[in-house]
Amino acid sequence: TLLGIDLGTTGVKAALFAVDDGRVIADSFIEYPLFHPHPGWAEQNPSDWWEATISAIRLCLKAGASQGAAAEDVRGLGLSGQMHGVVLLDANQQVLRPCIIWADQRSDEQCRWITEKVGASQLIQYVSNPALTGFSAPKLLWVRDHEPEIFAQARTMLLPKDYIRYRLTGVLAMEISDAAGTCLLDVKHGAWSQEVLAALELDPSLLPPVVPADAASGSITAEVAGLTGLSVGMPVAGGGADNACGAVGNGVVEPGLALVSVGTSGIVLAHSNSPQVDTSGPVPRVHTFNHAVPNAWYLMGVTQGAGLSLRWLRDNIGLPERALERWTGIEPYELLAREAESVPAGSEGLIFLPYLQGERTPHLDAYARGGWIGLTASHDRRHLVRSVLEGVAFSLKDCYAIIREQGLQLSQVRATGGGAKSSLWRQIIADVLGVELVVTNASEGPAFGAALLAGVAGGVYSSVQEACAQTVRVVQRTAPDTAAAPAYEQAYEVYKALYPALKPII
Ligand code: XUL
Repeated sequence: TLLGIDLGTTGVKAALFAVDDGRVIADSFIEYPLFHPHPGWAEQNPSDWWEATISAIRLCLKAGASQGAAAEDVRGLGLSGQMHGVVLLDANQQVLRPCIIWADQRSDEQCRWITEKVGASQLIQYVSNPALTGFSAPKLLWVRDHEPEIFAQARTMLLPKDYIRYRLTGVLAMEISDAAGTCLLDVKHGAWSQEVLAALELDPSLLPPVVPADAASGSITAEVAGLTGLSVGMPVAGGGADNACGAVGNGVVEPGLALVSVGTSGIVLAHSNSPQVDTSGPVPRVHTFNHAVPNAWYLMGVTQGAGLSLRWLRDNIGLPERALERWTGIEPYELLAREAESVPAGSEGLIFLPYLQGERTPHLDAYARGGWIGLTASHDRRHLVRSVLEGVAFSLKDCYAIIREQGLQLSQVRATGGGAKSSLWRQIIADVLGVELVVTNASEGPAFGAALLAGVAGGVYSSVQEACAQTVRVVQRTAPDTAAAPAYEQAYEVYKALYPALKPII
């Protein structure tokens, strides 16, 4: 068997897979808190991740054992996780402050400083991406500017899943597909950009070695073996960023394939065999990152508030779904989907902007704000719900359109993530994008891709492509409903006009 770990934004998943066909033997999921100490800020405690990860591994292995899969037989562990978060360790490898995670928007000033210091076009030349508040370097510089006493003690910067690697193996390393999102990696060559580090006056020793996704980066320590039942010395693969691992788990490992993922954030990515950069505007609006597949990259558009918008609605508007669940036994998101289903495509003129956390693609604006527009007395709660699903689909369409403009020939789009498990939301996205969405057996999301990378690292499969060919299967297809297209096209035109119209006043 192979074990995959996905350190997400809401919680950590552990899942155990069979080597021969990738079937799920056992899984577990444990939530941890997300803190918003100020509007636009987002932090998590690495110690919460660690405790949850150990508990998730134990739970998963216990469930596996009851299925006859012994912990000693696990052949490798792969790590996947939320990107961009900055974990700072001191000289004794102690965590210095909470992790400033990907969703945090506080570092706009640092982005401008980076762009000025390095030069806008030089930055793209060196790291293939602009400085955005979502990325790691601006967050690191925010700590230097605002918490100099903490920064002075920092000896190592890690990304979230790479901190878990350190706790599992004792190895300080950053895996390449995740390192790509720091704004400090020369994405074309897969090495730290000495030019950017020098321009930003950052000590290169802050950054650990870059390691490949599909090779062993270290192995399970005796202490962790004692805590979990895994064997001492079992290999831990480099693993990958959540979106790269989502792509691997869905078999998006060759040109022509694209992935739409609806998690807390939403993304559209397309595999590429070259590190091509979006040059259609003054600043690239989609990211160019290293894939978890050797010598491959992907182009990715990101919408910050996808599942986040629906969760916000669930928690803050109207009926207490969680209480209702106790009455009806129906899961909160299912209750919301039933409401949304009774409203026609286009939500009868109600438009939702999902910019609850600023927006990346296409606006690259940390200060973008969300909202509902077009509300009338004839709308009700059901329209609020449906318009949220549609607004997120529109923002995914913005990403998809820019990816298409890059000239990549896309033959198939695959869908993944918690949101894409909803047949209604998947249908809305297929209709809005005007493309068939294919669902694979990667029901465990990035944890599956991480486990496949562990399989390559452990010599179970000869390559990532071979791992996918052996284990990834198409299980469902959602064809676009052409009858719904005109309503969505009309609504999308209004959606697109709203951000530029509102920007000057909010
Ligand atoms: C990608 C990004 C998000 C996180 C979510 O650039 O910021 O998709 O990886 O975990």
